[in-house]
Amino acid sequence: MLQLDTQLSLADALGPRGVTQLQLDSLAPALGAAVEKIEAQHQSGALGFLDLPTREASIVAALELGQELRARFENAVVLGIGGSSLGARALASGLLHPFSALLPPGQRAGAQLFFPDNADASTFLGLLDVIDVEKTVFLAVTKSGGTAETWAQLLTLNHRLGAERMRQQVVAVTDENAGALRAVVNAQHWKSLPVPREIGGRFSVFTPVGLLPAAAAGIDCRALLKGAAHMAQRCRSTRMEENPAAQLVAVLFSQHRHLGRSGNVLMPYADALREFADWYVQLWGESLGKGDAGPTPIRAVGATDQHSLLQLLMEGPDDKTTIFIAEEKPRRDLKIPAGFEAQSDVAFLSGHTFHALLTTEQRSTAAALAQRGRPSIRITVDELTPSSLGELMMLWQAATALAAQMYGVNAFDQPGVELSKKYTCGALGRPGYEAFVL
Ligand code: PA5
Repeated sequence: MLQLDTQLSLADALGPRGVTQLQLDSLAPALGAAVEKIEAQHQSGALGFLDLPTREASIVAALELGQELRARFENAVVLGIGGSSLGARALASGLLHPFSALLPPGQRAGAQLFFPDNADASTFLGLLDVIDVEKTVFLAVTKSGGTAETWAQLLTLNHRLGAERMRQQVVAVTDENAGALRAVVNAQHWKSLPVPREIGGRFSVFTPVGLLPAAAAGIDCRALLKGAAHMAQRCRSTRMEENPAAQLVAVLFSQHRHLGRSGNVLMPYADALREFADWYVQLWGESLGKGDAGPTPIRAVGATDQHSLLQLLMEGPDDKTTIFIAEEKPRRDLKIPAGFEAQSDVAFLSGHTFHALLTTEQRSTAAALAQRGRPSIRITVDELTPSSLGELMMLWQAATALAAQMYGVNAFDQPGVELSKKYTCGALGRPGYEAFVL
């Protein structure tokens, strides 16, 4: 079970630069009310993210189609961006072999996933250069059905493949009724799965948006959803001591509001969570970045960023809280062999494991930050598995919704993003967007 340790954020550890129990207690009533409000929104059907791991019909549809694609195709290319890509990317990098694209197809759990994401022709053409397009399914994922980057890729494929191959090789994940992609799906009889109306992109990883690519790649989605459901249950509790999202938000919000620390650095000590940290940046930033409320999400990876960002965290402005994620047990480990014994500067490493080195570095970084009065939180997972990644992803979604209540902003819209999309449409000549000139 996922554990949260906030000790190194508190006044007991940091003195006047730590959060006091009194400050945390003062937030408890507002946090309890926020949990209740989110629950009421779920009951009324206005919100849905906490319920997603138990929506059987949608889950079965995604898993069955994923299994079919896994049997038919060697590759699955996700055409999607932002919330329509980052969740599946986090699942892929979190749970698949780190170099699965280089494994022979027979040794992979399923289809090889690719995420060209951007309207960058070098990436898209580069991908088409190296994959066997005949053996590839293209998952066109867009909630709105009208995102420019996704359509640029889809139109290119349509031009190259023609209508019949598009029908065979494209699966759409989009709104059930609205949007340009749904209209094309209906007209062209493409396979498709719906994105629930009330679920926005960055909260959609447990819908077909995340589940279809994951199932196509052979990820154990049932275990993922089990972990997510377990965490959703914990995060519905109005008792602070039982609710990890409330505990996390209490400390981060207090660090911000009482001590002026508006930066939230997520620093997993596992390469597999690098893309999870990217997903977090979008979730936290796009949901909370409104008005002058928003904390700034920052992505780091330990120990790599000890050789990069850590100097800023240690001795730059004291305006950030670092959240570490550590694994108790690594999926693979390696004992560092003996050698070059005369070199005492490095000989001490022999006999320790890579994992011991990494976890010691995490604890050392936390200790060094604390020594300078800088706060950190540690989230520990027993082992990085589909279930624990499900827990982590649900924890951060619940924390985001709660934090939005505390900051008094709507977590589920993104007016700034939409405005930028409108300027793009205006500049590129979309009818109806003439007012948006650059
Ligand atoms: O989280 C969000 O809502 C956004 O990041 C969207 O996912 C992103 O803009 C892509 O939108 P769409 O899924 O409509 O293509």
